[in-house]
Amino acid sequence: MSITIRQIHPVFVGDVAGVDLRRPLTADEAAAIEAGMDRHAVLVFHDQNLTDEQQIAFSRNFGTIERAVGGNVTKDHERRLSFDMADISNLDKENKVMARDDRRRMFNLGNELWHSDSSYRAIPAKFSLLSARAIPSAGGNTEFADMRAAYDALDDKTRGEIEDLVAEHSLMYSRGTLGFGEFTPEEQKTFAPVRQRLVRTHPASGRKSLFLASHAGTIVGWPMPEARAFLRDLTEHATQRQFVHAHRWRQHDLVMWDNRATMHRARRYDHTQVRDMRRTTIAGSAPTVEQVRAA
Ligand SMILES: [Fe+2]
Repeated sequence: MSITIRQIHPVFVGDVAGVDLRRPLTADEAAAIEAGMDRHAVLVFHDQNLTDEQQIAFSRNFGTIERAVGGNVTKDHERRLSFDMADISNLDKENKVMARDDRRRMFNLGNELWHSDSSYRAIPAKFSLLSARAIPSAGGNTEFADMRAAYDALDDKTRGEIEDLVAEHSLMYSRGTLGFGEFTPEEQKTFAPVRQRLVRTHPASGRKSLFLASHAGTIVGWPMPEARAFLRDLTEHATQRQFVHAHRWRQHDLVMWDNRATMHRARRYDHTQVRDMRRTTIAGSAPTVEQVRAA
């Protein structure tokens, strides 16, 4: 059986058939998937009942796994999963659903805002691979937006204006918009803003895209309110219906996306039901712009 990819949205998202992700990939299979990512930016695989080890092994075909530290308020001793996996569930270490007002849950609600994974790191992530181990009976979709198509649809004047702009990204900005603004001194240090270009060029496809996320809280050299108003305008543009696909999860789906070319957000669900999603993340290769360290 060979891999086939069928595009399921007018501008992006491929549905993949003909591969069992539990087994080691051949070099040809890995190359076909990477090429599919470069073209479609999001790939959907159904019926992949993976263990953590199998998910990690599959992920390693695409680069180095980003260590899941510094992206959360969960403390190391509270972790449910290994450092190779980001825990996108609503469960604590004992596999119990977290209370509605649990600080970790409230922080994680930031995933319901449009974002690109790890844009708050100096070297932002390449791919994310999210495996649905257990899903709620309704809701909890993940929506994706094609930031290449959004860039292509900008007028020339706007493209010229944003070409060299640099935004500052921090988890404190995205959480702040939800009214989650209390951070310990240690968290403030961990979540210190980093710089990211607003326009980036994909290293494989050569396509330009808007590099936006709710983590973006200002633009270097701009007054903050003007920057935020503009970032909000661009985000509204980029998340119009024609650029967005909603993935309705089935148990054992694996969805992988290119954080360099897309944004995504989780949608609400009944918080008393279990949603066990586990993410492996492929580290990016370079910063998008030089960082300036605070003195
Ligand atoms: Fe995410």
